Amino acid sequence: MSALSVKHLLGIKYLQPEDIQTLFETADNFKEVLSRPIKKVPSLRDITIANLFFENSTRTRISFELAEKRLSADVVNFSASSSSVKKGETLIDTVNNILAMKVDMVVMRHPSPGAPVFLSRHIDATIVNAGDGTHEHPTQALLDAYSIRERVGRIKGLKVAIFGDIMHSRVALSNIFCLQKLGAEVMVCGPPTLIPKDIHLLGVEVSYNVREALHWCDVANVLRIQLERQDIKYFASLREYSMYFGINRQLLDSLKKEVVIMHPGPINRGVEITSDVADSKQSIILQQVENGVAIRMAVLYLLAGRRTADVKAV
Ligand code: CP
Repeated sequence: MSALSVKHLLGIKYLQPEDIQTLFETADNFKEVLSRPIKKVPSLRDITIANLFFENSTRTRISFELAEKRLSADVVNFSASSSSVKKGETLIDTVNNILAMKVDMVVMRHPSPGAPVFLSRHIDATIVNAGDGTHEHPTQALLDAYSIRERVGRIKGLKVAIFGDIMHSRVALSNIFCLQKLGAEVMVCGPPTLIPKDIHLLGVEVSYNVREALHWCDVANVLRIQLERQDIKYFASLREYSMYFGINRQLLDSLKKEVVIMHPGPINRGVEITSDVADSKQSIILQQVENGVAIRMAVLYLLAGRRTADVKAV
């Protein structure tokens, strides 16, 4: 198995296309492990991993913890809401105190863009970004692309449209980088107020018309409206958003072709997507969640291998 070109997973923008292929091939092996009656391998038996979540999460937190346990790592979990962060402790102090207990890898979700990059410059553990503010969510993009590859059989040459709140989405940015590195064309579609005005500079198509974007794409990745990150009103009401930008059955049936439907979760049913679409055979939403464990096992396994090689080289 090839080594990754990076020591940390801070964002998709730092990866080479070959890194992503290596991650996918490693995830293929771990998917096979996860289909066995005993879903556990001893690969990370000597590694201790801290999951530091300074922001809410269901899928990513559980998925990382499962991936770590399937690899036989020792795992400690930290949640900011029940920690001494509430008493004013800084990020560096919190992490250094955890590292003093001999932690090798840190999986971190943080509301501030750049927090994982900052940490990687100040501490001696391997850092995995589990989502930093509106910046990147690299393991989500990897599992999204992996799930497209699994459903369609390829990524190169596909047209993928990302719908919704692009402005506040770390999933959108990581998906754009990942899909482009793998040779897909990407379009973003949503209300003009929720699409950054210079986003075309990233080489993506831009549409403000859902029907037009659905006609264009092979795969539709539907994002949630991130109300918790919005300080002003970007559209009149959720009802109006749903009418003009929601993905529903009637719209899909009018296309006369089958578009693959994705969503990173959590879903706001009836706002950006209706239940009959989210739960249909066109949707690979639960396959995305399932693949997340194999992808995160691949990330941790390959980064741990890189860490061990670096330690031996010193
Ligand atoms: N997709 C995703 O990041 O979900 P969580 O916020 O529940 O982890």
